[in-house]
Amino acid sequence: MDPASIDARREAVAAQLTARNQTHVLRWWDELTSAQRLQLLADLGSIPWDTVDPLIDSHVRNAPTRRLPSGLTPPAVYPHETDPGERREYAEAIEQGRNQLRDGKVAAFTVAGGQGTRLGFDGPKGAVAVTPVGDRTLFELFAGMVKAARGRSEAAIPWYIMTSPGNHDDTEAFLTGHSFFGLPEADVRLFSQGMLPAFDAQGRLLLVEKHRVALAPDGHGGSLKALCTSGALADMQRRGITTISYFQVDNPLVKPFDPLFIGLHTSAGSDMSTKVAAKADDLEAVGNLCMQDGKLGVVEYSEFPEQFARARNDDGSRKFDAGNLAIHLLDVAFVERIVGVSFELPFRRAEKKVTHIDEQGASVEPETPNAIKLETFVFDALPLANNPLVLEVDRSEEFSPVKNATGTDSLDTSKRDQMLRACRWLDSAEVPVPRKPDGSPDVTITIAPSFALDADEVRLKRDQIGPIRAGDAVSID
Ligand code: UD1
Repeated sequence: MDPASIDARREAVAAQLTARNQTHVLRWWDELTSAQRLQLLADLGSIPWDTVDPLIDSHVRNAPTRRLPSGLTPPAVYPHETDPGERREYAEAIEQGRNQLRDGKVAAFTVAGGQGTRLGFDGPKGAVAVTPVGDRTLFELFAGMVKAARGRSEAAIPWYIMTSPGNHDDTEAFLTGHSFFGLPEADVRLFSQGMLPAFDAQGRLLLVEKHRVALAPDGHGGSLKALCTSGALADMQRRGITTISYFQVDNPLVKPFDPLFIGLHTSAGSDMSTKVAAKADDLEAVGNLCMQDGKLGVVEYSEFPEQFARARNDDGSRKFDAGNLAIHLLDVAFVERIVGVSFELPFRRAEKKVTHIDEQGASVEPETPNAIKLETFVFDALPLANNPLVLEVDRSEEFSPVKNATGTDSLDTSKRDQMLRACRWLDSAEVPVPRKPDGSPDVTITIAPSFALDADEVRLKRDQIGPIRAGDAVSID
């Protein structure tokens, strides 16, 4: 672009900034190269001021007061343990779910746009090796699940992955470099979510470099909008997909093609359904499914008052015990409806540490939160859904995320849980698993999705499993 047109664009952007008292971000303009000027203009031009302007006052300079509705109650939940009536209903739902899969009505959707700061891994989280044996990455596992489900249902199930600008190219390079783990390239579709600026407490834009604005992903609620703007939703409609199986990139135990969940969701005419599990403890860092003013919603762990978290029923059981696993089914028509009518999910304010440059241009690594980010959450679509449905599952079968470098929800705990699930599946197929005197497995095992997606499949294929000896590291593929 010639210098005159760059100057013309600068004038337009400067007018926007002047009106908002944000011209400080052009402070280093004179010393920038043409390429850097273009980059700065692109960053500034990407800011959706119509959305952001009112939020600077309501969410950045001031923290919105989020009052809990007075009538907070536990939601109705389809239970994991069933009585005979439910068993019949579940059997019918499983049949219906299988039909949906066979008819090619279901797509897999992974949200992988987060920054993975807690894990401290330098790269897309999907590229982290997570299996107890074989160092399979999260993306390889999910690709294996999609491939296996395609084989079982004989339908061309597509897989959509939401990235963010910060990890999009690396994610694409990783998947391309592994030839999409054997899936047809046309059936794996990546798209990037939107970004929003991070602000200081006075509502001023921050710069990461002299020519780069501090921008951050707009939260996984942004996935609904990004599905539309990227054309992924239209692609789904072309393929005849009606249900989106949504899951986070961090959970290797997820079962994205669960016929029971799909069948219940479809037969209830639900717009959006969600899986929950009993909480590990009162204060576990999971969202809480609750009824709020007659609507289903999630109250995030950080906002759930301790007296609610510790509340008990008369029989001593935990009153609010529906932990959000971030595993949802969303109808394509629902996403289209809520995004189509100029809808925005409610914005949340998050105080974060954001590296930036100071007024002298020196880089600052803050030790405490110095910036405010704006995010929306996908579960805030639940109150907008018709007939939302909640299914309780056994956490040890479906949830062990990799979020932290150490401690809870870490690689260690997730590998342990993957192992224990594999051993349970082998036990149920009566395949002998060597144990230590304390009953824990004396082997390291991975069951690959190509071999089995659940215990039933292990039972069917038990004859293909060779003897497992104490101390072995076995990958059953
Ligand atoms: C999340 C849920 C919590 C739930 C728990 C289950 C939120 C706010 N809370 O907590 O209710 O019980 O998971 O594991 O989500 N992501 C994006 N783009 C973004 C932000 C996040 O794609 O802009 C993705 C991340 O890649 C990750 C997932 O969303 O896969 C979760 O985000 P994270 O911020 O880690 O949420 P948690 O605190 O773990």
